[in-house]
Amino acid sequence: MIKLTKVGSVRGELRTPSDKSISHRAVMFSSLAEGVSYVYNWLESADTKATLHILKSLGTKVVKKGNHLKVYGRGYSFLEPSTVLDAKNSGTTARLMMGVLATQPFFSTITGDKSLRSRPMLRVVEPLRLMGASIDGREGGNKLPISVRGGKLKGVSFFNKKASAQVKSALLLAGLRADGYTEVLEPVLSRDHTERMLSAFGVRLYQMEGESGHVIKIEGFQNLKATEIFCPADPSSTAFFLALAVLTSGSDLLLKDVLVNPTRDGFIRKLKEMGAHVSYENLRELSREPVADVYVRYSGRLRAVEVKPEEVPSLIDEIPVLAVVMSLAEGVSKVRGAEELRVKESDRIKAVVENLRVMGVKVEEYKDGFEIEGTESLKGGFVKTYGDHRIAMAFSVAGLTAQGETIIDNPQCVAVSYPEFYEDLRKLGCSV
Ligand code: S3P
Repeated sequence: MIKLTKVGSVRGELRTPSDKSISHRAVMFSSLAEGVSYVYNWLESADTKATLHILKSLGTKVVKKGNHLKVYGRGYSFLEPSTVLDAKNSGTTARLMMGVLATQPFFSTITGDKSLRSRPMLRVVEPLRLMGASIDGREGGNKLPISVRGGKLKGVSFFNKKASAQVKSALLLAGLRADGYTEVLEPVLSRDHTERMLSAFGVRLYQMEGESGHVIKIEGFQNLKATEIFCPADPSSTAFFLALAVLTSGSDLLLKDVLVNPTRDGFIRKLKEMGAHVSYENLRELSREPVADVYVRYSGRLRAVEVKPEEVPSLIDEIPVLAVVMSLAEGVSKVRGAEELRVKESDRIKAVVENLRVMGVKVEEYKDGFEIEGTESLKGGFVKTYGDHRIAMAFSVAGLTAQGETIIDNPQCVAVSYPEFYEDLRKLGCSV
């Protein structure tokens, strides 16, 4: 357990850890490539370590020096693992790796921790079966543990209704070893790191705007060529400090090297819509991704805001911390069309609603979101994280703005994406 009390202000500079989505992909794609790749500023967290461990169990050699990795690519030719592959808490590891395993002519089983074993997998299993992979698991293949016997695949055209980047990525990775073309259609463009990074590895992709949304098409049997990938800071981790700065009087922060990809910057756009002072400095490109230093300062009382269904993919992981900012804004804020939050590392709609109520906020719960009546100040209380890193960090921010003491029940879960979170708060003068 950890105790938090109100912080005066946060000032200075911080480089939050590297992006989780990019770090997973960097090590995975390097191991799929031909030749030796280098990954710089790799995020070392519980989730990304699960990916690295699985790749090693499949025969990939990786040499690690600090936060930099040298990866000996296997060119899509792995060894049959002699044990069950454990994705731990990581949905990205399980789902993307299923796409890779579907291309391999051997037997493998993938599992995860209690939370991951309760999360839906049919969204990747069904299209991979259509491509020709033989996959089975609990509940007809919807729940881990899941076994895959891959092999000869054929390209498909798939409508990715939930705009899930994990599903899109799994299909593109399988599509790279399938006959013909694999095509993924999305109603709203989901995070596009796979497309950007595959092109950095020399893969040709076609992207078009179709009648039902965005289309990505890839031809099978292209090889990835080894390259260098630099990982920027994770906007989903930076979001906690942006929130803390806009909410605490006298704050002024420069967050360095932040990924500002338009499929990931929805939280910053919402903060601006609420009246927050946030700006980009030194905008540049790093390994085909837009990166900037993000300047933020205390912004007085913010205005309530609405998140519409089509805006959800660009801020999906930031919704818990956005809810905290909404709870201190003037007026009624709404989030709708976010039912995906119910099947993340925890049921994030339930966790947000319960914890905000504990802190004295009036909240209405919907199947696909919530409505929050802003208040002038939060009251400290006992926060239940449900073992979910983003709930722990969002409500730590809430606790640092609240009157009285806040207790976080399982702060260790931050290790999933941001092991140094509480240390970084202390560096900025917070009493944690
Ligand atoms: C991720 C995609 C998103 C996101 C998750 C990471 C990725 O999930 O919530 O934290 O790296 O592709 P969905 O693809 O399920 O929307």
